[in-house]
Parts: sequence; structure tokens; C-alpha cells
Amino acid sequence: MPTLLHIDSSPLYGASVSRQLTRAFVDQWQAAHPDGTIIYRDLTATTIPPITAELVGAAYTPEAARTPEQKHLLALSDTLLAELEQADEYVFGVPMHNFSVPSVLKLWIDQIARVGKSFAYVDGVPKGLITGKKATFIIATGGRYDAQTQMASFNFVEPYLRSVFAFLGVTDTTFLTAGGTAALNQGQDRDAFLAPHIQTVQTHALAI
Ligand SMILES: Cc1cc2nc3c(=O)[nH]c(=O)nc-3n(C[C@H](O)[C@H](O)[C@H](O)COP(=O)(O)O)c2cc1C
Repeated sequence: MPTLLHIDSSPLYGASVSRQLTRAFVDQWQAAHPDGTIIYRDLTATTIPPITAELVGAAYTPEAARTPEQKHLLALSDTLLAELEQADEYVFGVPMHNFSVPSVLKLWIDQIARVGKSFAYVDGVPKGLITGKKATFIIATGGRYDAQTQMASFNFVEPYLRSVFAFLGVTDTTFLTAGGTAALNQGQDRDAFLAPHIQTVQTHALAI
């Protein structure tokens, strides 16, 4: 029985393109895996504190030597890591914010990128510890950042996610982007705009 971890990070809820597309993906995945399990993590509704020196200290203290306070500090990180470990597949809804990922997604990454848990250095070489997973990133961008165009170098979303997840061991990744969502604010019909993207994510959800 497969488990899917579904993560959203758009603050726009009903108006969000990435949330609508992850929903289409999840509905299709569920239809294809009626006995599958879905874990949902809404990062807009999750309070994740920024990294502190105390948190770093706790993460680098050997587990057996941690104080109760240090264990408490790591509790949220432990929960988020357990969700990653439990799932076989991941789907992320990612709006582009200021050419990068939303701050709530960066805060989440800061919690799950943890020495000894999701990565290690073996003989000075980084080794990802989250292996055997498949990840689909559904990205929505107001502008367009197509390869070979001048704007492509402004897109830090896909290169960043590709690099950080590869560092953690997740190399089986698919990036599906709905570019040019700003057209929706300029009168473009939402259903017509979304139809090909919904088709793409549904096809992918069936294929994986
Ligand atoms: C705070 C904020 C920052 C944004 N920054 C960018 C940006 O740098 N480049 C861009 O093309 N669109 C940008 N946009 C537009 C979003 O990428 C676009 O609305 C997209 O559809 C967001 O995904 P969502 O609909 O799932 O929220 C920004 C939107 C917001 C709210």
C-alpha cells in the first residue's frame, strides 16, 4: 500500500493555482491507489520557527546525550521527518515568490535537512539518507521562465529544489510548471488556462 505525502505552500488557498493542481494530482493518485494512504501537510497552516543556535546545537548533540529541552526543540523536525520517511511518494505545490520558493517551504526545508537523519557526510562526501522516494513538484509562476529565454536565469525555484532534494537523496524528481498565471489577473479564463495543466498532472499521477 503506497503512501503519498502531499505538501502545499501557497497562501492563496481558493485562488491558488498550485493548490488546485496538487488537488487534481492527489485525486487522480487516490483513484489509482484506492488502498493508498495520504499524509497532508499544509505549510501555510503550520507554524515553523526559523533556525536558532539552540536548534542547531540540539541537532548536533548525539541523540542519547540530548536534554529534555533539546528533544523538545527537535520535536517538530522529528514530526516532519517522520512524514517524509513514511511516504513513498511526494507531491509539492510550490508558488514562485520573489523568484524562489515561498518562505514557509524554506522553513520546512530547514527543519527536514538534518544531519544524521536526512543527510550525512561520509569521508567528507555528502550522502543523502532519504532514498527510494519519488517527488513531483507542481510549480506556479506569475511570469514565464522558459529555458533559453532571458528570464530563465531568474528562476531559482526548480534549480534550488532539484539541488536540495538531490542532496537529501531524492533524485527521482519531476517538475511540472504552470507558467504565466498573471494572465488570470488580466481576464484570462481560469478553467481554460488550467485545463492543459490539470491534464498534465493527472497523466503524471497515473504514470508514477
Ligand atoms: C509574494 C509573491 C511574490 C511573487 N513573486 C513572483 C516572482 O518573483 N515571479 C513571478 O513570476 N511571479 C511571482 N508571483 C506570482 C506567483 O508566482 C503566481 O501568482 C503563482 O500563481 C503563485 O502560485 P499560487 O497561485 O499557487 O499561489 C508572486 C506572488 C506573490 C504573492
